[in-house]
Amino acid sequence: MPAHRTQVGIIGAGPAGLLLGHLLHTRGIDSVILERHGRAHVVERVRAGVLEQGTVDLLRDLGLGARLAREGMRHAGLFLSFGGERHHVDMAELTGGRAITIYGQNEVVKDLIDARIATGRPLAFEVADVEIGGIETTRPSIHYRQAGRAETLACDFVAGCDGFHGVSRASLPAGAVRVYERTYPFGWLGILAEAAPSCAELVYARHDRGFALFSMRSPAITRLYLQCAPDEDLADWSDDRIWSELAARFACRDGWTPAAGPILQKGVTPMRSFVVDPMAHGRLYLAGDAAHIVPPTGAKGLNLAVADVWRLADALARFYRDGSTTELDTYSERGLRRAWRAQRFSWWMTSALHKAETENPFDALRQHAELDYLVSSRAALTSFAESYVGAPLS
Ligand code: APR
Ligand code: PHB
Repeated sequence: MPAHRTQVGIIGAGPAGLLLGHLLHTRGIDSVILERHGRAHVVERVRAGVLEQGTVDLLRDLGLGARLAREGMRHAGLFLSFGGERHHVDMAELTGGRAITIYGQNEVVKDLIDARIATGRPLAFEVADVEIGGIETTRPSIHYRQAGRAETLACDFVAGCDGFHGVSRASLPAGAVRVYERTYPFGWLGILAEAAPSCAELVYARHDRGFALFSMRSPAITRLYLQCAPDEDLADWSDDRIWSELAARFACRDGWTPAAGPILQKGVTPMRSFVVDPMAHGRLYLAGDAAHIVPPTGAKGLNLAVADVWRLADALARFYRDGSTTELDTYSERGLRRAWRAQRFSWWMTSALHKAETENPFDALRQHAELDYLVSSRAALTSFAESYVGAPLS
């Protein structure tokens, strides 16, 4: 069985694993990234698309922001639609100039893969049967199969960046961690449409028929979501039904409606909130979706993953510089603080905008009052904008 060695073994080539590999590279630390799927699958997966200011700044500072600067769409504000009115929120004005940038997560992944390949450091796709051993020792190892051959990678540290369904979290000893979880009684039906976005900014809509979201991927592609059942059958949703439901949920007195076009892709995403505490055990450190999931309403998932690996890379760099584990020891505590703030905001946005299955008229009017207060109070709007654009990395 051939054995290899590295300083940090990284499981998963999503945004968390790839960015961690790059941050370590810039600090002269060696890593191997192991990914279960093939490159095309990883690059083509349609996921979220909102980058916080801190994420954009980091990618630019790392020299990874050239295409992002060209193709990313900076949004200084967004719209909230409810009660038949669209209200504009000027996030940049409320936050001293901070904004979000629309750039597909798969585009981030594409840029990170190109950057990884340019460094010449190892990135293996299509590895199977990944198992982690020895995390309570100073010599953990990763066992896996590649092209049918059994391989072992000896590491100083293992970074579990393998998402919600990965093996890393499952490798933590039972009893060493506690899980906090909440599922929601609805999902999002998402589409990509070949249509020029008919609004320059995102529109989040609360309607008695349910939530809807207008977003985009490029000047030619619109991305739209509709609240649906978590197990909604896509077969029940013809293109016509989708467009008429969207038109109904976005209906407002200013007459705005999303421009329609051929639907390129459809999917249903369930929604959950999930946190594992602590985010580390022994020499295994979890980052990104492996450690926490937020419902997509606040657009925080990718940005939380970026904040985790930024912190982890610094903590590992400190260890390799002077042997200190001080920052590694507080990695989980610091990560959980940011993760819980994102949980709070994503839960709040989800609850304020979605129609509850058991909604009674009281709840509908309370939700309306919540949004009405938000758009009429500068203090409330400032708090909302501050959470939406995201805190600087810390
Ligand atoms: N072995 C190797 N790789 C694995 C394994 C495994 N056993 N299990 C999962 N993976 C890979 C997946 O194929 C995926 O490419 O780990 C990667 C995890 O990537 P993501 O799911 O994108 O998670 P993460 O990098 O933490 O990014 C968080 O992704 O889903 C969004 O909302 C989320 O936007 C957030 C971001
Ligand atoms: C998206 O563009 O995919 C998107 C935008 C905002 C969200 C979630 C997803 O809150």
